[in-house]
Amino acid sequence: MKILITGGAGFIGSNLSLTLQKDNSITVVDNLLSGNTKNLESFQGNLITDDITSMNLLKSFKDIDVIFHQAAITDTTVSDEKRMMEVNVGGFRRILDLALRKRVTLVYASSAGVYGNGKCPMREDQELSPQNVYARSKLLMDEIAIKYKDKIRIIGLRYFNVYGPREGYKKKAASMIYQLAQQMKASKNPRIFKYGEQSRDFIYVKDVVDATIRAMKAKESGVVNVGTGVVTTFNRVIEILNEVLGTSYEPEYFDNPYSFYQDETRADINRAEELLGFKARYSIEEGIRDYLTTMQNAK
Ligand SMILES: NC(=O)c1ccc[n+]([C@@H]2O[C@H](COP(=O)([O-])OP(=O)(O)OC[C@H]3O[C@@H](n4cnc5c(N)ncnc54)[C@H](O)[C@@H]3O)[C@@H](O)[C@H]2O)c1
Repeated sequence: MKILITGGAGFIGSNLSLTLQKDNSITVVDNLLSGNTKNLESFQGNLITDDITSMNLLKSFKDIDVIFHQAAITDTTVSDEKRMMEVNVGGFRRILDLALRKRVTLVYASSAGVYGNGKCPMREDQELSPQNVYARSKLLMDEIAIKYKDKIRIIGLRYFNVYGPREGYKKKAASMIYQLAQQMKASKNPRIFKYGEQSRDFIYVKDVVDATIRAMKAKESGVVNVGTGVVTTFNRVIEILNEVLGTSYEPEYFDNPYSFYQDETRADINRAEELLGFKARYSIEEGIRDYLTTMQNAK
């Protein structure tokens, strides 16, 4: 199949591109805002470094069968609403328009951020309360997508907290697992907000790639969670990192400076099982172990 992956030099996009290239012809488009061509060192497809908000999409992508849309401003602390909307919502509209004209399946990255501090487990049909500009941009994308659900197959994936190889170029926007592992590998005590009992539904990027590929063949259009349904506290993450690294660093707690912070994220995974036939395979212990063995080579 001929596949277009936007944001394919980024964390999830590069893992997706490298997996899909085995059996498909892949074109990646990325403006390298937070991605890096080093993520694509073994990539054999076509890499176009351009901006999806301004390039001529129809002219550039004449022959495609499916689109995976990953490109976005992914730093959730960005507060410039105009810029966030131009890239995340405006960029999505342009990619959606391309998918509609070509009549191809569109799988796009939404986010668990749309749930805010909503009740857990988070269900796709519960009340949404995005708490920052980034999360609002993702909710707008979901609202736009649903309007076109009968025109093409369109699947929005509400990724939970993804971690794994090739996230290092996201710098401060990389996962907590990455940040804590880097601190510990530099012989520092891992720093977390008081008192480390906040929990997350961490999902390993290999599982995320699996769910994303399955979405291409989903039974019908829809918006669906991509999480494990299992939560882990930051304190527990540090314990696992200590086990895997063979160290014994104690957490260093500090005050949380953010007025908004999710205490817990946990996916209800029923719809993902129904719509995508997806269930995460990596436990947090297995995911972290697999990640740290590759971390030296791939950022
Ligand atoms: N990683 C997570 O935990 C997580 C959670 C929820 C949702 N998501 C979503 O998943 C998608 C991928 O995220 P990621 O973690 O791989 O982040 P990432 O920052 O590594 O990837 C985003 C990519 O999009 C590119 N990009 C940004 N603006 C662009 C533009 N205008 N034109 C072309 N390319 C552009 C960036 O350079 C980058 O390579 C994003 O849409 C993100 O919002 C990620």
